[in-house]
Amino acid sequence: MKQVTKAVFPVAGMGTRFLPATKASPKEMMPIVDKPLIQFAVEEAVAAGITDMIFVTGRSKRAIEDHFDKAYELESELERHGKIELLEFVQNLLPKNINCIYIRQPEALGLGHAVLCAQPVINDEPFAVLLADDLLQGTPSVMRQMVDAFEYYNCSVLGVEEVPAAETGRYGIVAARPLSERVELISAIVEKPKPEVAPSTLAVIGRYILMPSIFDHLKRVKPGLGGEIQLTDGIASLLSEQQVLAYRFDGERYDCGSKIGYLKAMVDLGRRHPEVGAEFTAYLAGFPK
Ligand code: UTP
Repeated sequence: MKQVTKAVFPVAGMGTRFLPATKASPKEMMPIVDKPLIQFAVEEAVAAGITDMIFVTGRSKRAIEDHFDKAYELESELERHGKIELLEFVQNLLPKNINCIYIRQPEALGLGHAVLCAQPVINDEPFAVLLADDLLQGTPSVMRQMVDAFEYYNCSVLGVEEVPAAETGRYGIVAARPLSERVELISAIVEKPKPEVAPSTLAVIGRYILMPSIFDHLKRVKPGLGGEIQLTDGIASLLSEQQVLAYRFDGERYDCGSKIGYLKAMVDLGRRHPEVGAEFTAYLAGFPK
């Protein structure tokens, strides 16, 4: 059985919900206190044993490349000022065995198209997809949990969560039947169904482990909702020939692609921040309930 060693981070979306913050920089670079969303996602992948990080970038790609690259000017300034601890911190953002690979999505033609752009680097291996605007906090990391499920069942695994019925129109929704406490066998998947036609309230979140045959399906998918090549449509097609599982992850999810989810993440992680958590918690205690 092939191991999951590669992860795709699609970061080429327009991020329109966060304009003007995302006018010149990708939303995945927005920080929760002091760490950008993309770094949370990469650390989650590292914790799952993944070593090749493939970023599918778009127009404002530089910020992400620079973030994971050596920063000569900054490093020599920190050294000159004797800030050795900070210097070591920025030099060791990622373990030394991690490779970062960048691929350009020429046009924002949808998430399915962004994943397809990674095919030349993935070839015929199973791979992970992480949408960094879904911030997941779990122990072990949510991607670690999903890799464990993948290694047991040896098929595609989608991270899922129950959502309120009124919110099905914001997600890919699956019809599935339980196989174990956290794992379900998917029989159908629909992109953003209205509550009255949704097959369930089990929503696909921004974590996937996919078999490489997904690429053949994505190539055949016609542009769907919003004229975009939808990853959900590719998975629906994959389902016709192989088993795909839903995994109810153990952990907390913050939808940082929305303003309210981003604010909640900032407050919750701010309260737990090693440097400012105690002071911030005391500050919040001053607000009337
Ligand atoms: P979203 O649906 O959240 O879209 O994309 P968006 O453009 O990022 O944000 P809004 O809705 O305009 O505010 C889901 C994920 O797919 C990536 C995005 O970067 C995000 O991680 N994506 C989307 C691409 O990489 N390319 C695309 O063409 C579309």
